[in-house]
Amino acid sequence: MNSPSENTHNGEGKMARIRAIRSAHPGNLMARYFSEDYFNSLDESKRGRLWRIIATGIENPDSQMGAYAQNSRDYEDFEPLLGPMIRDYHNIPTGHEIGQKHDWSATASRCDLADIDPALNGVSMRVRVGRNLAAFPLPGAMTKAHRLELEALVIEAFTTLKADTQFGGDYHSLTPGSPHAIDADAYRRRVAAHQMFKDMGGDRYLAAAGISSDWPFGRGMYASNAEDFIVWVGEEDHLRIMAMRQGGDLAALFGRLHDGLEKFARLIPAFAHSSRYGYVTSCPTNLGTAMRASLHLPLPRLTEGGRNLERAKKAAQDFGLSVRGAGGEHSDAGHGGLVDISPSARLGVTESGIMQRLYEGTAALWSLEKER
Ligand code: ARG
Repeated sequence: MNSPSENTHNGEGKMARIRAIRSAHPGNLMARYFSEDYFNSLDESKRGRLWRIIATGIENPDSQMGAYAQNSRDYEDFEPLLGPMIRDYHNIPTGHEIGQKHDWSATASRCDLADIDPALNGVSMRVRVGRNLAAFPLPGAMTKAHRLELEALVIEAFTTLKADTQFGGDYHSLTPGSPHAIDADAYRRRVAAHQMFKDMGGDRYLAAAGISSDWPFGRGMYASNAEDFIVWVGEEDHLRIMAMRQGGDLAALFGRLHDGLEKFARLIPAFAHSSRYGYVTSCPTNLGTAMRASLHLPLPRLTEGGRNLERAKKAAQDFGLSVRGAGGEHSDAGHGGLVDISPSARLGVTESGIMQRLYEGTAALWSLEKER
């Protein structure tokens, strides 16, 4: 077998590794759908591009998806591989037209968790969308110069947003020497407050895709004065735009994000968008709405006091919800069985649909938790 780090694009060694992953890790969707015939049909330049897209899934056999797009065009250019992976992950049958639609209209209707149980009025809620600028490569393929250029461009937009009565705030940069730079302590405090993203180098899936390269250059965050509207710059997607608050009023939370997003979008160049897949994201799991809406729910019974996350995951699945530990992706349940729940679907559903799913799923899960 050739060494995995071989430079040629003929890729015999890599193909052998993918075959091995396919049998040892059936959950790795890249390995499941990779076809040697398809690969061999590509020209030299496309082979090179494909290796970069799937490097993360080869280097991390335990990947669930195993690929990160490097350029917005990748989803069209490599549809024969990425299409089936996306359909499998998002549960969309072959032949069913995806044609992602967007709809935020439900933010105008009443949707308050306090109507389920007054005890839920005070949970920590958060909704984010991923966005990438069409004019730049996706984060995995960006050079350090791209990262700095993109940051400079959004800083200009933030300078305008600063003066806004509802969304005014400040930008905090991790770029060494930036006039907006924050020090290591301030950064750590914001990570602890779940406002800022962690050092991405710690994520081996992102690292293998080149997404965490040049850390911490071009990385930062904008926070509104009330710290309830936040924009991440330079994480897994160019931009992650989010609203967060304690309470129960989901419609208000989603409405806050939508208003801020519309205002901010007017200040920057166009987002990458596809008529089939909606908003283009690095990770195929986030396509479509690119939206993740979540809340922290105490489920002491369903997690057996925080010791059995698997049991809560299983229960939530029936309601279209995913469960993570309260500390985020790959973390355990927190003290008292505090977990993070969010609608699993991002693609083939609308923004309003996600809000309703979160509400209805929470109601169902909560009644299961309280059942005697
Ligand atoms: N790349 C990882 C995998 O394939 C994570 C996928 C989902 N998470 C994410 N942050 N995009 O399992």
